[in-house]
This record gives sequence, structure tokens and C-alpha cells, in this order.
Amino acid sequence: MTSPFIVTIDGPAGVGKSTVARMLAKKLGGIFLDTGATYRAVTVAAMQQGADLQDLRAILDVMDRTTFDFRHEGDVLKVFVDGNDETQTIRQPDITENVKYVAGKQPLRSRLVELQKRFASQFDIVVTEGRDQGTVVFPEAQFKFFLTADSKERTRRRHEELKASGQEMDFDELHEQMSQRDYYDESRTVSPLKPAPDAIHIDTTNIDAETVVEKMLEIITQQTDQQSV
Ligand code: DC
Repeated sequence: MTSPFIVTIDGPAGVGKSTVARMLAKKLGGIFLDTGATYRAVTVAAMQQGADLQDLRAILDVMDRTTFDFRHEGDVLKVFVDGNDETQTIRQPDITENVKYVAGKQPLRSRLVELQKRFASQFDIVVTEGRDQGTVVFPEAQFKFFLTADSKERTRRRHEELKASGQEMDFDELHEQMSQRDYYDESRTVSPLKPAPDAIHIDTTNIDAETVVEKMLEIITQQTDQQSV
């Protein structure tokens, strides 16, 4: 089996990673992988089974006895936990709040990294997004991008997204929550959010997702053309 062509997109919450990964994958004729969904799915299973989120052994046991399935249906990555469709559940605020317990434990991360690699290996072209895709999971990726944006703008985007899905939230409270999550993701000892040394940085504060994707495609096409000359 040949290795897939991989593009990684890392960055903080609300920066547009999922939208951009989905659009870029479509343009490249590949699939996208939202790795945050894998951390969220384990959090859902642990909470549904009443496991203590602080207890590593308990969550490892949850992972042992639970089946996780990630399937593309059109533009949506559907998430199944023991056969139940939890695609909406993984976005609930209590899951967002508790996912840090799963994301902060190395043995759990190692298992999810294996799952992410196995998932990617089934396809020829993969655009994968998260926090550690360029640094830890796919350091050999052909292209690595790191997205940034002003924190108020990121909050505004997430606020809109939540509103569109029927979840109203106070802007300042959301901003505070997102800032805390950023701090946690950046300062944790295991696989913190950070750019790979060779990542291409794109500030998305003042540009929409289409423009970000155009920039990425331009870079990919230019460098691929140069390599094939
Ligand atoms: O991208 P997201 O908001 O769905 O991610 C949910 C959480 O999962 C996020 O706070 C950090 C964690 N995460 C991670 O640690 N590593 C990844 N590759 C993706 C997400």
C-alpha cells in the first residue's frame, strides 16, 4: 500500500480548520479528517458510561469496550459510538468542556493517534485537522499549515456556528471559555498546540474560508509543479 498524500491543518478553536479542511479535501479530490471528533467521541462514551474522566484506567477501559466508527456521508463526518449516531452529541457544551481530560492524557492520545493514522491509510489524499497533526501525527506530511486568527474573531465565528445549530450563548462567556481552552491546549505537556517548524502560517482574521483554500491550493500547486520539473 502506498502512503497517502497528506495535508495537515493545525490551529486553535474557531480558526476555521474544519471548514477549510472540508473544502480543500473536496478540491483535491480527497477526504478530510476532523481529529477533534475522535477526542470528543471518547469523551461522549466515557460520560455516557459514567466513567471518572480524571481516571486514566477507567477511560482506557471505556475505550476497550466501546466501538468507535467515523464515516463520511457527503460533506459530513458521522461519528458512531457503539453503533449510535453521536454526530450532534459530540458538539454539546458539556462535551466541549470535558474533552480536555481525554486530550491531556498521553496513553489515550497514543491510541487515538493510531486510530487517526489507520483511518488516513485507507485513502489516497487526506486533509487532516487538529492540534498536533503536523507535529506528532503526520510529521512527514507533504504540506503543513498552521492557521491563526484574532481571538475575538474566532469567538465571533464560533458564536455564529452555535447560533446556527440552535445553541445561543453569551459572547463574553464564550470568549472566556475559548481563551481557557486555548491556554489549556497550548500549555499542556503532551502534544501541545504548536506549529511544526516547517508549517506555513496563514492568518485568517480578515479573510474568508474560500480565500484561505485558494492560498493553500496555490502553494500546493506551485510546490508540486516545481518538484515534478
Ligand atoms: O477541534 P475541536 O474543538 O473539535 O477539538 C476538541 C478538543 O480536542 C480540543 O480542545 C483539543 C483536543 N484536540 C487535541 O488535543 N488534538 C487534536 N488533534 C484535536 C483536538
